[in-house]
Amino acid sequence: MNRLTLTAGTACTLIGPPGSGKSTFAAQWPDTWRVSLDLYRKLAADTATDQSATPVALQIQALLLDARLARGLTAIVDSTNLRAPARAGLLARAAHWQRPTVAVLFDAPLATVQAQNVGRDRVVPAHVVREFHSLLPTVDQLHDEGWDTVHLASALGARPNSPNVR
Ligand code: GTP
Ligand code: MG
Repeated sequence: MNRLTLTAGTACTLIGPPGSGKSTFAAQWPDTWRVSLDLYRKLAADTATDQSATPVALQIQALLLDARLARGLTAIVDSTNLRAPARAGLLARAAHWQRPTVAVLFDAPLATVQAQNVGRDRVVPAHVVREFHSLLPTVDQLHDEGWDTVHLASALGARPNSPNVR
């Protein structure tokens, strides 16, 4: 995979259903760049899937995103980000700090995502993957929302060897 060049201070947001490869993609950069709801749910509740920990995870995500963007450090937001209000919140923080925004859209077909999902340790129910996949925005929609740059993950190429990420 040709690693995407991210200008320092970029708010890079990954957009895709569970199992689409967001965390695998994020693992190309230092761990500290990654802002992850799954990780913060796990830190709060010992399990990344405990949705009761989502409110605190969102607070941690917002704090760390601000902390990094304020310093001109890149942040990679590794959560599904399939709902427009969630994306608008991220765009607003980047605008506040006057940082460039990049969206990476994980556009693999549903069958591919389902196969990747069942092939890993943490399997998300198939109906959840399908529902989230149906929420994928288009590139035009993302440009209209105000993202400076939009990339299709499919155009960035398949990764050769990925670490086992969660
Ligand atoms: P959630 O954290 O549940 O939202 O999923 P995710 O989008 O972070 O997906 P993740 O990176 O965990 O990838 C899911 C599975 O697909 C893992 O087993 C990865 O190794 C695999 N995978 C990710 N990207 C690719 C890819 O480009 N090609 C192939 N063949 N497998 C991939
Ligand atoms: Mg992940």
